[in-house]
Amino acid sequence: IIPVITIDGPTASGKGTVAQKVAQQLGFHYLDSGALYRLTALSVLRRATPMNDDHALAKVAEHLHCHFDGGHIFLANEDVTQAIRAEEVGNTASKIAAFQTVRQALYGLQLGFRKPPGLVADGRDMGTVIFPTARLKVFLTASVEARAQRRYKQLIDKGFSASMQDLSKDLRERDERDMNRASAPLKPAENAYHLDTSDMTADEAVQKVLGWYAA
Ligand code: CDP
Repeated sequence: IIPVITIDGPTASGKGTVAQKVAQQLGFHYLDSGALYRLTALSVLRRATPMNDDHALAKVAEHLHCHFDGGHIFLANEDVTQAIRAEEVGNTASKIAAFQTVRQALYGLQLGFRKPPGLVADGRDMGTVIFPTARLKVFLTASVEARAQRRYKQLIDKGFSASMQDLSKDLRERDERDMNRASAPLKPAENAYHLDTSDMTADEAVQKVLGWYAA
């Protein structure tokens, strides 16, 4: 059996950073499931696919030609690592992720990341829907303030402009949408370990997760 660690949580809770570091420490593969929704969103925006046509949206998800290579993310052969981090893409990702047809279209692709020696997967439904039998499930949270700060820093570091006020508003809207949608709403798995990272560094959170995994 190939071990899986799932790390779910709301937007900008630090999942991505923590999951990548845990994967690195254990020599495991890493799945950034949010990137798949963002890649779909980027395609949707470029093709101007109607946002209310769930079948057309699912078709885009089904035919994603993406690959991950050394921290870079490609759509067809274009490096879109930076492009998919734009707030507009994140917001569109959150909208299309509410459609069950889209989630279904990305299901198999996500399972494919489970390869020896193991996988660390981050997202919203990794522990509840995609890898329900995962060996360790973690639910990361942080205050809205801490998350807005992190997202702000992330965007500025990547060369985007951002305002704290807009980001806090975006975060709340995104939380609302992710938690209240009918398909795979954001919620902790029953047997998940909860970790509030508001006052923690990424490395402290990583140590916590590694400790739980070793126990
Ligand atoms: O960076 P951030 O946490 O804001 O988002 P992300 O993890 O890149 O995911 C972007 C959007 O995709 C989220 O707002 C979710 O609505 C959606 N998503 C999802 O529904 N299920 C997942 N497993 C991962 C992401």
